[in-house]
Amino acid sequence: MALLAVTGTGTEVGKTVTTAAVAALALTAGRRVAAVKLAQTGVLPHQDGDLAEVVRLAGPLGTRELARYPEPLAPATAARRAGLPGLRRDAAAAAVRELDADHDLVLIEGAGGLLARFDDTGWTLADLAADLAAPVVVVTTAGLGTLNAAALTAESLARRGARLHGVVIGSWPARPDLAMRCNLTDLPEMTGGPLIGVLPRAMAERGREAFAAAARAGLGAPLGGRFEATDFAVHWRT
Ligand SMILES: Nc1ncnc2c1ncn2[C@@H]1O[C@H](COP(=O)(O)OP(=O)(O)OP(=O)(O)O)[C@@H](O)[C@H]1O
Ligand SMILES: [Mg+2]
Repeated sequence: MALLAVTGTGTEVGKTVTTAAVAALALTAGRRVAAVKLAQTGVLPHQDGDLAEVVRLAGPLGTRELARYPEPLAPATAARRAGLPGLRRDAAAAAVRELDADHDLVLIEGAGGLLARFDDTGWTLADLAADLAAPVVVVTTAGLGTLNAAALTAESLARRGARLHGVVIGSWPARPDLAMRCNLTDLPEMTGGPLIGVLPRAMAERGREAFAAAARAGLGAPLGGRFEATDFAVHWRT
């Protein structure tokens, strides 16, 4: 795995935390890691974006933010309103390929959910993942409503020729409710992809070492960790 795209069922679901968790494990394993944020919105030029958060959590790694717009909107909309150019699909692919040449792993975080548009042609992270043959991780919320959004996301990936690597629950509470516990079984069934991570809520507030340890426990083998979905589901069986 040299490229990995990280999308989600929506905004604020834990894409950046998941990106940082995968990066932390790869860095610990001595791999050269880079993270790309395709388009950062809702952030002014001098402010920290998602990549600063990835470095804070995971440690020093290569970073590249390809576009930035001040208003907290979908990238194509934010670009239009700011009178700035949108991010072109070929420019995004070229930037990722350039990083791929001198890194062992390049993580690509989208903006919002899968079908957020990056410019007026309407391309999405699914299209870029297909162009680059990059497997896609879908980050979901834990609770009620996530099954539908995750299944729609998986369907859209397939329709656009992108491959689902697996599903990660971005933030798992200490006391999960009934829907959350049932989702451990239903998410893989409804998306057709394995559950390859469940990240504990509050892991983002710890130092780097504790964050990496939580990443190792919360991410499965396809992402470099030790998480076992079957054991986890048995533990929380209702
Ligand atoms: N496992 C976790 N532990 C602690 N905090 C978390 C966890 N997952 C998510 N959060 C918190 O929830 C918020 C949203 O997470 P995050 O920034 O990763 O979402 P996102 O999907 O990348 O959002 P965006 O669409 O804005 O890029 C952040 O404040 C983050 O610190
Ligand atoms: Mg993010």
